[in-house]
Amino acid sequence: KKYLTELAERKKKMDKPVNIAIFASGAGSNAARIIEYFCGNAAIKISLIASNVPAAGVLTIAARNNIDTLLINRENFFKADAYLPVLEKYKISWIVLAGFLWKIPSKLIAAYPQRIINIHPALLPGHGGKGMYGHFVHEAVITNGDTESGISIHFVDELYDHGKIIFQAKCPVDKNDTADSLAKKVQQLEHTYFAPEIQKLILQNCS
Ligand code: GAR
Repeated sequence: KKYLTELAERKKKMDKPVNIAIFASGAGSNAARIIEYFCGNAAIKISLIASNVPAAGVLTIAARNNIDTLLINRENFFKADAYLPVLEKYKISWIVLAGFLWKIPSKLIAAYPQRIINIHPALLPGHGGKGMYGHFVHEAVITNGDTESGISIHFVDELYDHGKIIFQAKCPVDKNDTADSLAKKVQQLEHTYFAPEIQKLILQNCS
């Protein structure tokens, strides 16, 4: 009987999807791609989209896809762990940063050890850190004369763009590339690899 109860418990657990929250501050093209990728997936669900920018495109994308949203404010985010109960309510087990431009407070990192990941539009450890996002990154790559750029997916720790790297993909930087043309190449890599890498990571960690 005990065995049957255990079996039933295990089955119940397996029937429940793993819930992801996406944190984003901008247009949300990566969030859109991730939502599309996991649409109809019984095992992994995008359950919440959080943003610190009321006018962020990502919130429109969330609404279009009937995904609940959370607007976070600076004080609650940094001074209190006010959002932890919300994440608990949605049974969030992974947080994906897709163009989220605030540093993650240590209490949140402690609540989600090795469960918060970020994507950066360059080959870390190069061209990361405070203020390094979007065009600033691609301009820095070009000014530095790099011949390659790409994407880095990494665990989030208490420093900007710093935690252990999970995955990188590269693209060439051509002599006549501008920040705009390089951004397009890098975005293509993001849209190709981010969602499958999230899936791989979650599946590796759910046994
Ligand atoms: C992405 O390129 C992501 O790599 C970058 O913000 C962009 C968001 O675009 N993140 C960083 O620069 C973090 N340091 P999106 O809103 O279209 O997904």
